[in-house]
Amino acid sequence: MSSTPDAAPAVALAGSADLFGLSPVIPVVVVERVEQAVPIARALVAGGVPVIELTLRTPVALDAIRAIAAEVPEIVLGAGTVTTPGAARASAAAGARFLVSPGCTPSLLAAMTETGLPFLPGTATVSEALAVLETGHTAMKFFPAEASGGAAYLGSLSTVVPDARFCPTGGIGPANAGSYLALPNVGCVGGSWLTPKDAVAAGDWDRIRSLAAEAAAARG
Ligand code: 3PG
Repeated sequence: MSSTPDAAPAVALAGSADLFGLSPVIPVVVVERVEQAVPIARALVAGGVPVIELTLRTPVALDAIRAIAAEVPEIVLGAGTVTTPGAARASAAAGARFLVSPGCTPSLLAAMTETGLPFLPGTATVSEALAVLETGHTAMKFFPAEASGGAAYLGSLSTVVPDARFCPTGGIGPANAGSYLALPNVGCVGGSWLTPKDAVAAGDWDRIRSLAAEAAAARG
């Protein structure tokens, strides 16, 4: 498979905050088989979502990142579920252009910074958001969003940590994405609902394209 001949290259990212402007939703994607990766990425782009967070949750994840980097240059490709410094480095080497972690430690934060890539470190509390802000980094993930207090909780952070801007993820879908996107401290949301497990297993790329098209129109 080769890349689409007339596809425009993915937009350049100047910094982590640029991740918020790509799409209202960053699709969080799990692939069990490497050959699923490229069709998923193409279906997302076809639906108007030019970004993908490929999670490091399966043994094929780094190969999937390599495949998308080679075959779908028009998508902004990130690695998700980055939980160790080694995973941050391996993701960058495989071709990821941004990194997302579900939580963060000083060594993980340092390793993600050292890759030179934009990244969204995971936070769930005021103290964690403050710790990330102390490093000069303002863009972060809020995870697990619904279980941590949802849009009401996240909205209340905007008064005490107004410089932090979040990508809430975890338990978000079409029914509640709008309540997050309407918050002043939310840049975009993340979620796995664009790539349902059954659609991926069945190779139903058209369903993924259509879910992406709905998500692309979701800006609150
Ligand atoms: C993540 O890795 O960000 C979450 O597991 C995605 O959460 P969701 O499956 O509830 O969208």
